[in-house]
Amino acid sequence: MKSIIFIAPPSAGKGTQSLMVSEKYHMPHISTGDLLRAASKEKSERGTYIKNQMETGGLVSDEITLELLKERLKKDDCNNGYILDGFPRNVFQAKAYEDLLKSLKKDFGVVIILDLDKQTALDRVIGRLTCGNCGAVYNEKFEESRPKKSGICDKCGNALSKRADDNAETFEKRYDTYVVSTEPLIQYYEEKGNVYHINSGDPKEIVFSNIEKVLGGK
Ligand code: AP5
Repeated sequence: MKSIIFIAPPSAGKGTQSLMVSEKYHMPHISTGDLLRAASKEKSERGTYIKNQMETGGLVSDEITLELLKERLKKDDCNNGYILDGFPRNVFQAKAYEDLLKSLKKDFGVVIILDLDKQTALDRVIGRLTCGNCGAVYNEKFEESRPKKSGICDKCGNALSKRADDNAETFEKRYDTYVVSTEPLIQYYEEKGNVYHINSGDPKEIVFSNIEKVLGGK
């Protein structure tokens, strides 16, 4: 299976779809948000900087993000394709990623854009609950995405929590960052070809089946 890059506005479903693809195709799910959230817990200047950037909705520096990603991609489980969730985030990262692939002798794969309007993304962010143990994602606002037992992960029984950046104010900043930094990246990839757009406003099973159609052709 080819590697996949998911690009989408905040809370549009990258993590949800990455987990579904990962479970079905046994590919590692690499979320730079998750890598950075883990690094933000370090008791160091770097940890404090990352935490601050994430909580205020800006991007973490390209240098730190690329360093964490490079270490992750060197692991053996990435030898037969992987899913990138949240990377690249701007044109600089996309170009650096091309260099990184050359140095690691890996293929590029496919870019999938999950399109979603801002209001629906905001509705999704407000109700999101995540499992810090297994990474499962739920939503208390939508019946079909609620955990069976309130506040408890269906998959591993861990307590669910809200992310520090999941509030309306930080969402606005994350969305602005997306428009300014990430939308030009979509144009960059469209000029190269190899990009597929999928409507992420559909129920997640439909979004997933549309992703499978793209992957089936690869
Ligand atoms: P990151 O963790 O990547 O956050 P994000 O891009 O804002 O994306 P989210 O994780 O919020 O959403 P998602 O698209 O995964 O949606 P999900 O599937 O959970 O990044 C956080 C921060 O880290 C950034 O702000 C930045 O500071 C930093 N960062 C990360 N990468 C970086 C990089 N490359 N460079 C620099 N800085 C970086 O779904 C959301 C909700 O909707 C869930 O509740 C889910 O159940 C529900 N849902 C999903 N799909 C559907 C559906 N089809 N129908 C109904 N509900 C749905």
